[in-house]
Amino acid sequence: MTNPSTMPAFSPAFTWGVATSAYQIEGAADIDGRGPSIWDSFTHTPGTIIDGSTGDVACDHYHRYVDDVGIIAALGVKAYRFSVSWSRVQPMGYGDWNEKGFEFYANLLDTLEAHGIAAHLTLYHWDLPQALQDLGGWLNRDTCLRFAEYATEVARRFGHRLASIATHNEPWCTANLGYGNAQFAPGVADTALSIQVSHHLLLSHGLAMQAMRTIHCPAKLGIVLNQWPAMPATASAADIAQAEWEYARSVQWFMDPIFKGCYPQKALDRMDMSQFHVHPEDMDIIHQPLDFLGVNYYFRAFVSTENPPRLPEGKLGFTDMGWEIYPSGLTDLLLKLNAEYPDLPPIYITENGMAVADEMEDGKVHDEQRILYLQLHLQALHAAMQSGVDVQAYFYWSLLDNFEWNSGYARRFGLVHVDYQTQQRTLKDSAYWYRDFVRTQLSYR
Ligand code: FCB
Repeated sequence: MTNPSTMPAFSPAFTWGVATSAYQIEGAADIDGRGPSIWDSFTHTPGTIIDGSTGDVACDHYHRYVDDVGIIAALGVKAYRFSVSWSRVQPMGYGDWNEKGFEFYANLLDTLEAHGIAAHLTLYHWDLPQALQDLGGWLNRDTCLRFAEYATEVARRFGHRLASIATHNEPWCTANLGYGNAQFAPGVADTALSIQVSHHLLLSHGLAMQAMRTIHCPAKLGIVLNQWPAMPATASAADIAQAEWEYARSVQWFMDPIFKGCYPQKALDRMDMSQFHVHPEDMDIIHQPLDFLGVNYYFRAFVSTENPPRLPEGKLGFTDMGWEIYPSGLTDLLLKLNAEYPDLPPIYITENGMAVADEMEDGKVHDEQRILYLQLHLQALHAAMQSGVDVQAYFYWSLLDNFEWNSGYARRFGLVHVDYQTQQRTLKDSAYWYRDFVRTQLSYR
């Protein structure tokens, strides 16, 4: 295991943090006036989640946030990325605000401030109010207007207390897993619809950006995209072309509208556009300057046209999610983004982390694999920065083991182990390693 002091030195101003999201940790699903979200409906539908679980209780963070912030402070990181549950602060997604819901986030911010931890807020980490879904959800263009109203209200109340606000987390997942293959809420499988949803997500991002700029929100404003470099399995022309297409339909599909004001032609050429409706003004709305771009990196796309497809070798192994461990993909991706988008703002790595089948032994969790994963990805990040990419923050996913969407509680991503019977938190070895690493980095200041 690498001693933290032998790791490369990052800039003294670099931000180190940990990340979570509302539905995955809060629990308290019907407490203090919270309305149901699409994830409540989805998890309560039999057969959707591999262990049959729900986020009703999750890590009970709603009641334990003071202790959880204490853990963040003990890790020594100075930044925390979390999301707001829209239906907690506006139960229907339109109409009345729920003061009790806002009170929870105000208290969370008080606690973070008391520890000197900067707050990075995400507005939408997948939990659309069910009442908006009943009106058509992200297929209904009006949802974009409701999202901008919600963004304005959160920014008006909290903007001055936040380091950053991200509009969306991983709209690729909402569109492709929520509407493309039904793995995620709301559980629709229709590719043509998923393309229209992706456009509405981008449009809602642009409208929310405009609205938050109009009220002069002082927090840095941006969006979080999950991205991967797409690598052909072989040097065959077919694999290369397929990898380019994969990159166009996943990464450029979101990046180009935001940073260039148009959809990538390479993707448009091969997509089912039968349900695709773009109004003339939309692309200008989406094409707003950002203060930061959040990048979530977990793996590369390994693209094969053979049947059955060639699979990646996985020289460094695979995580408990079955995801290939491929740290240099982070360097490749960042260099590619830097080369392709001249207007790229500073990047925050808003998620990166590993699921491990952790076991508790005598009150300890020896998760060496996660420590190695962290080291290799931090080295890969540093390499990209050495080559000129402006990255300013890194958030490990996740602070706590939590509700991993359709994998339920069966996949553990935390630096901190959660016993779901007792809600006891235990720092894993990786938490201590990250603490020592961050302490070493901060000592260079
Ligand atoms: C990302 C999600 C996050 C978490 C990690 C493992 O796609 O944003 O909520 O589930 O994957």
